[in-house]
Amino acid sequence: MSNERGLMENIISLSKRRGFIFQASEIYGGIGGFWDYGPLGVELKRNLKEAWWRDMVLVHDDTVTPHGAPSAYAMVGVDTSIIQNPQVWRVSGHSDLFQDQLVDCRTCKSRFRLDQISSSECPMKPSKHPGEHSTCQLTEPREFNLMFKTNVGALVDPSSTAFLRPETAQGIFVNFRNVLDTTRVKLPFGIAQTGKSFRNEITPRYYTYRSREFEQMEIEFFCHPHESQHWYTYWRDRRFSWYIDLGLTSTRLRLRDHTPEELSHYSLGTADIEYAFPFLPEGEFGELEGIAHRGDFDLRSHMQGKLVRTAQGLEVETDAEGKPRFPGSGRDLSYTDESNGERFIPHVVEPSAGVDRALLAFLCEAYQEDEIPDLEGIPQTRVVLKFHPRLAPIKAGVFPLVKRDGMPEIAMEIYRDLKRRWNVFYDERGSVGRRYRRQDESGTPFCITVDTQTLEDQTVTLRDRDTTHQERLAIHELHIFLDDHIHR
Ligand code: GAP
Repeated sequence: MSNERGLMENIISLSKRRGFIFQASEIYGGIGGFWDYGPLGVELKRNLKEAWWRDMVLVHDDTVTPHGAPSAYAMVGVDTSIIQNPQVWRVSGHSDLFQDQLVDCRTCKSRFRLDQISSSECPMKPSKHPGEHSTCQLTEPREFNLMFKTNVGALVDPSSTAFLRPETAQGIFVNFRNVLDTTRVKLPFGIAQTGKSFRNEITPRYYTYRSREFEQMEIEFFCHPHESQHWYTYWRDRRFSWYIDLGLTSTRLRLRDHTPEELSHYSLGTADIEYAFPFLPEGEFGELEGIAHRGDFDLRSHMQGKLVRTAQGLEVETDAEGKPRFPGSGRDLSYTDESNGERFIPHVVEPSAGVDRALLAFLCEAYQEDEIPDLEGIPQTRVVLKFHPRLAPIKAGVFPLVKRDGMPEIAMEIYRDLKRRWNVFYDERGSVGRRYRRQDESGTPFCITVDTQTLEDQTVTLRDRDTTHQERLAIHELHIFLDDHIHR
């Protein structure tokens, strides 16, 4: 077993043991490509999404030009439906282009993605790639649309077919006019959204990395076409720094510009933020977020109809009668600059991140095994999750050293006081060393212990998860300390 694979197995096992991630419907044998987040996982996920929303939307100051940005800009949010009018997906191209090439094996009845044959494993033994056993019978590749279908209303017929959204982005584009008409935003501005997306992946794999149900955090940033290249560079760098600031500081994180051959038919530039997950073959990186310069493709499509690339550029795709094959809404999605009367279709820069993939990267990066001395000074291996305090599911453990002399009462008072603001955890069971270890495995950055000295001078022992360093702090200073260290 390679070190990296062993590392991943340890992370998965800790993640289950501590209640971060469980297989969905585990008691019934699970269901491929679906995952549940447990009590610690849900807090980690909420903190991640809240950090994104806060940093990108809530505390964004639209009167100041951020470092590296061409100008000041506005940011607002939306929360749109998972199910949209099916025309949205025809016009966006998802109905006829959002597909993978699929290959079946008639012998073992397995299904593979054509582009992953060389990295897939045939279930027959000995271990080989699909098609390499003499008995393998692979079919010709066929196209498989990744959107999940459902029916709206009581009637199950083609007219009631609808789709679970494969991305949150389209809900933003179709609300562009609504946002313009109901807020005072002016170009440039961004619309942000977080929420579930669904893709019927042929081969879900690598734990939560490629799931069939996952969450996205997407921004559609609208700007003047002349400025779009600058905004693309700004968002690319801004989003990369965001991961570093939240703790992805190792060389496992990288920013990679797409080559011209990799670009989608509408994209004028794309960069991926990638992470070298321990489950990937050595040297390979997996995408956490893509930042794409999409030009006016999306707004134009939803105005005029689905676009295709021709020698003349992007044009509305037409049927045999010369009419749009998938007509747009016909609504005016252009923008008029009030200062000079100029009317144009804004360009879009899209930073599109996956919550589950980011969470997995933060989990992998945080996981460490180090050695610390026990009470007798003998070095012991400890497993610790070194999450950034903003992301940590529990911010502090609060313990009485022993269950007597009034210590539990004081500790409980501290716990109740802090609990009004933060997710803190009270624990009086087992030795204090064991309690520290439990919190280390949960990624709790601080532990607060009420001990004999507390009874004399109203101070507590404050232990730092990463250094295991202990210091004394007055009880009345705990709020300020946590404020400074969690929200930094
Ligand atoms: N609106 C653009 C868009 O959806 P994408 O690259 O297909 O672009 C954006 O998806 C992000 O969503 C990815 O970078 C990844 O983090 C996440 N994502 C996509 N498919 C996923 C899957 N099957 N499982 C988990 N996350 C996924």
